[in-house]
Amino acid sequence: MSPDLRVSFAGVEFANPIMTASGCCGYGEELAKVYPLSKLGALVTKSVTLKPRLGHPPPRTAETASGMLNAIGLANVGIDCFITDKIPFLEKQKTRVIVNVAGSSLNEYVEVCGRLSDIARVDMIELNISCPNVDEGGMEFGADPVMTEKLVAAVKKVFPRPVIAKLSPNVTSIATIAAAAEQGGADALAVINSLVGTAIDVETWRPRLTYNKGGLTGAAIKPVALAMVNAVHEKCRLPIIGIGGISNGSDAVEFFLCGATAVQVGTALFIEPDVPVRMLGELKAYLKRKKLSSIGELTGKVRKY
Ligand SMILES: Cc1cc2nc3c(=O)[nH]c(=O)nc-3n(C[C@H](O)[C@H](O)[C@H](O)COP(=O)(O)O)c2cc1C
Repeated sequence: MSPDLRVSFAGVEFANPIMTASGCCGYGEELAKVYPLSKLGALVTKSVTLKPRLGHPPPRTAETASGMLNAIGLANVGIDCFITDKIPFLEKQKTRVIVNVAGSSLNEYVEVCGRLSDIARVDMIELNISCPNVDEGGMEFGADPVMTEKLVAAVKKVFPRPVIAKLSPNVTSIATIAAAAEQGGADALAVINSLVGTAIDVETWRPRLTYNKGGLTGAAIKPVALAMVNAVHEKCRLPIIGIGGISNGSDAVEFFLCGATAVQVGTALFIEPDVPVRMLGELKAYLKRKKLSSIGELTGKVRKY
């Protein structure tokens, strides 16, 4: 019998546990030209804010050893354009749709999430309280347990479907922030966003990003992300979406064993846009080889010394 790749959490069923990570495939239009989005467990959109944002001037990405830095600065079309131009495309896609929302104030998050509340196609919201490359908002919320709880609670009042809090690794204790999000009523947690980093051009003595620093992502951050998923899983009962440096089925299995129910793939999409499709085959083969019937049999099962 073929293993069952379906997973469910927060009362929502997903065809499989592989999602795209926010900011790594826009609103899905380009990816849909490469393969049907029904192959994905869910599509997670680029962060949407109240007003359109141009983001930071280029260069805003830089390659590093086993990873990349970015300081895009939340460039996005804004909620009005998102609803009129992007939702009609998303309505037609046979996958779960998770809209990632960012803001520079509590009111902005609430307003954007309120606007999404009666669009049934938006299955879940993912709150970006962890963006390391904007001056206001983002990490300000995600680094403070009191603000995290307050923000999640405020969004839960206006959005009737599940809310995911996307946590920052740039904190002293990610488990404390996870507990605050749980207290605020979050339905799931996404762990992790990017790590603050920089790179310098030794000829010009300038940083390789105009924002002077950025978020480190890709294979380089996987060990950090795994340890953080593990720490959150130990402290918190909420389902976890593991993120950070995932590019194959075996990477995903590591995240499941540390406590994740699903995973997101980000930077790897820039190298291989159909990496989620390859991963589906790899996951199936792994479950078969290990004589397991579902992903759930892996979640949180790491055998510690
Ligand atoms: C170019 C780029 C843009 C990103 N934009 C967003 C964003 O708008 N909102 C967000 O929550 N995360 C954003 N992220 C973070 C990713 O969603 C993900 O958390 C991070 O890249 C780690 O996963 P990875 O190592 O698989 O890339 C971005 C990452 C990259 C590389």
